[in-house]
Amino acid sequence: MRMDNEKKPVLGIDLGTTYSAIARWTEKGPKVYQNPRREYTWASVVYHDERQAKPLVGNLALKRALIDPENAVIGVKRMMDAGGEKIRLGNREYTPIEISSMILRDVYEYAEKTTPGFDPAGVVVTVPYYFTALQCMNTSEAASLAGLNVLGIIQEPVAAALAYGIHEEETLSDEVIMVFDLGGGTFDLTIFRLRNSKERLTFEVLATGGDDRLGGLDFDKSLAELIREKAALNFSGLSSANKMKVKAALMEAAKEAKEILSYEEYTDIIKPNILPGQHIEVEVERGEFEKCIEDYFEKMDMILDTVIEKASLSRNDINRVIKVGGSSRIPKIDELLSQKIGTDKIFGNIDPDLCVAEGASVYAAFLDERIEWSKKIEIKTATAHALGIGLGDGRFSVLIPSNRQTPCEATRIFTTNADDCEEVDIDVYQGSSKLTKNNKKIGTIHVSGLKKYPAGELDIHITFRINQQQSVSVTIVQKESNIRKVESVKLT
Ligand SMILES: Nc1ncnc2c1ncn2[C@@H]1O[C@H](COP(=O)(O)OP(=O)(O)OP(=O)(O)O)[C@@H](O)[C@H]1O
Ligand SMILES: [Mg+2]
Repeated sequence: MRMDNEKKPVLGIDLGTTYSAIARWTEKGPKVYQNPRREYTWASVVYHDERQAKPLVGNLALKRALIDPENAVIGVKRMMDAGGEKIRLGNREYTPIEISSMILRDVYEYAEKTTPGFDPAGVVVTVPYYFTALQCMNTSEAASLAGLNVLGIIQEPVAAALAYGIHEEETLSDEVIMVFDLGGGTFDLTIFRLRNSKERLTFEVLATGGDDRLGGLDFDKSLAELIREKAALNFSGLSSANKMKVKAALMEAAKEAKEILSYEEYTDIIKPNILPGQHIEVEVERGEFEKCIEDYFEKMDMILDTVIEKASLSRNDINRVIKVGGSSRIPKIDELLSQKIGTDKIFGNIDPDLCVAEGASVYAAFLDERIEWSKKIEIKTATAHALGIGLGDGRFSVLIPSNRQTPCEATRIFTTNADDCEEVDIDVYQGSSKLTKNNKKIGTIHVSGLKKYPAGELDIHITFRINQQQSVSVTIVQKESNIRKVESVKLT
């Protein structure tokens, strides 16, 4: 049966920290929707306007948020681990899931408006590689709440690699690619091995790493500080409302200047009357901007080395670098990548802002069996976090380390730490710290009916299994008590 990819499409949504985008699958490949202002991306911002019943979402909301941050939510993606937390907006409280669902709904409605009789079959939403199972589930819930039929969730670098793989499918055979994603808030590096045969297109994650507090927003802050110095703006004596106004104006000026400096060697920043009698009028050169963000570049340089090493590769083994994220447009990134990997390895034929949404639509088409070739898409991922259980003394005992290829499983033997213990709670955590208190608890499994034994004498076998979709099942076996319990981790 021929699918109607226009009226009954499958969609891919890149739900970014700062910007989001939506694409659909067509016979010719992915196509990104435009909003009425002919932009391809939406600010992931929700703003409460007293005069309107419904909160404002998107690029206009971002503009309002800069002037009136108290009534805005920016960066809700960073709160997705706390689905139930309340965010106050106007006279109502919302959960991060609800705020995310508003962004998804808004993006979706624009797609809907472009096509009469729009009735999509489903959507794939993207999440960062390092998102825990709980964060993925909350994202999926946000999409359902927005009224979307969720076909699946896919990790951003995998989506970008898919967009590349489909683009290059005819000539691709076997290569190692690095997805270099520098967005608004985060820096993510992922190395894949891609294999293409008649039967299947395989993406195998070899290593991953990054920094979830390194991105365009940090560059804006550094540049805003430089502009403040150059314009000799003084905050002392300002009321807090005025201070906020000046800071917002500086951040806006910095972002504009930063983006221009990706194309121009210098730019004039002119903002008259940010306060009565106070102006910004300065010139910034690209070199000056580069200087004020050089610490971040050192960090990225180090992360590059670490991730290549984690993949047990040398730089020469990387065949291609795919740049993703708006901040990857900064020319100094090309310098870094040229020097580290090689100029000829940088792939320029894909849009860094849109390829994640494009890849998500490819995956949606694959899940809905719309891609018209008989090939299978196979994604072999690795764990982003170590997975283990909390010990009585506060230490984290790892069963499956981070960066382990999935599907995988591991078994360890634990024991009771009190005499005649008849029941235990096994707390499951994800994270990289040796101490459980710094990691994320993703569930607790209660085991009762243990035979009475002195402390330390009862062997409890715990097995973790992670499947390809990154869901975790835990099996607990205690022979003497005749216990065998299998649970998928209950998410809190
Ligand atoms: N030409 C440019 N030069 C420099 N930076 C740019 C340019 N265009 C966009 N950016 C920056 O890219 C960032 C947004 O990137 P992107 O849309 O990829 O982020 P995101 O996906 O929302 O964030 P994240 O990936 O961290 O979740 C912003 O900080 C923006 O200022
Ligand atoms: Mg992004």
